[in-house]
Amino acid sequence: MYIVLIKSYSDKPWRSPETYQQIETSLAQKWQVQSIETQEPTELAQFIQSLRNHGNEKIFVFNIAEYLDESRKQGFIPGLLDEWKIPHLGSTAETVLTAMNKAKTKTLLKSMGIPTPQFFIAETVGCDCHAQAEKIGYPLFVKPLNEGGHIGIGDHSIVHNSDQMHTEINNILQTYKEPALVEEYIDDAGMREFSVGILYGEPNLFTPVEIDFDAMPTKTRILSFESAEDDIERIKLIDDLAVKESLIKLTQDTFNAVGAKDYSRVDIRMNTKGYYVLEINVMPGLGPYSFLPDAAESIHGMSYEPLIQRLAACAMRRHHLIE
Ligand SMILES: Nc1ncnc2c1ncn2[C@@H]1O[C@H](COP(=O)(O)OP(=O)(O)OP(=O)(O)O)[C@@H](O)[C@H]1O
Ligand SMILES: [Mg+2]
Repeated sequence: MYIVLIKSYSDKPWRSPETYQQIETSLAQKWQVQSIETQEPTELAQFIQSLRNHGNEKIFVFNIAEYLDESRKQGFIPGLLDEWKIPHLGSTAETVLTAMNKAKTKTLLKSMGIPTPQFFIAETVGCDCHAQAEKIGYPLFVKPLNEGGHIGIGDHSIVHNSDQMHTEINNILQTYKEPALVEEYIDDAGMREFSVGILYGEPNLFTPVEIDFDAMPTKTRILSFESAEDDIERIKLIDDLAVKESLIKLTQDTFNAVGAKDYSRVDIRMNTKGYYVLEINVMPGLGPYSFLPDAAESIHGMSYEPLIQRLAACAMRRHHLIE
């Protein structure tokens, strides 16, 4: 039995050499680990094949990245592994692709009665979307359709009129070469934001935390690219049992709706009217200081190494690789 760890570095702290080193150390305490650092699908295929040729039939891939080459978004790892029928950590390629497209996810959630902000997609410069914007009502929140890591998000994302909306849509189209998602802006006196990790197992474990905007020196109560870059994002535990229960149910429902596997993190905002699922991250940051590991330690007393080991063990059990 071998675990193959694919090291796909990026400039994100949760895909740094240090993070991969800590993951490797955690896995190596329990299993035999073989690591590979490559940006080439053929090299990855040969690596796995050579392990098999040496009589290692049972192979599990521990992967936490979308791409072999993160900077050029090439070598879609879940797609390669699914195609080669190799058991791996996390969701199938189909689910990863759904979750990467926020509108696709939201359409699915809506069809299942899971609340999410009203929205429309703007695909062209100067799009004729006046009526759709008026129907939802300003202010609106404009963000790139397919990014993560708060890319393209800042105070400029909140638009108060048609001119501002078009400027923001055009910026996104030009900068990211992808459509813009225009959403109802969730923010009133009762606004709170949460991030809820889910770890598959028996039972599933949840790590609901609240974004502590009061502890963040920002003008606007959103998580922006700047707040991530400046490392000023703070979380706090939630005392209210009813709120926690609602968040856990929404998270489980969202996880099931997209058919996610092993682990995810669901971002949820609320206002005086209710809860809204913003998105599901099916490959959330697993760096030692990312929201999910941080919350797992505070809520369940589960430190980094046991967390990584539990993730691997539950996923391998799901694939019938271990008892
Ligand atoms: N409709 C909205 N109303 C209010 N705030 C929003 C809305 N959509 C996004 N935000 C704010 O922007 C932040 C980032 O948005 P979102 O989670 O959709 O993007 P992301 O870049 O994919 O995030 P992640 O880094 O978690 O992958 C949210 O955490 C929230 O603070
Ligand atoms: Mg998010």
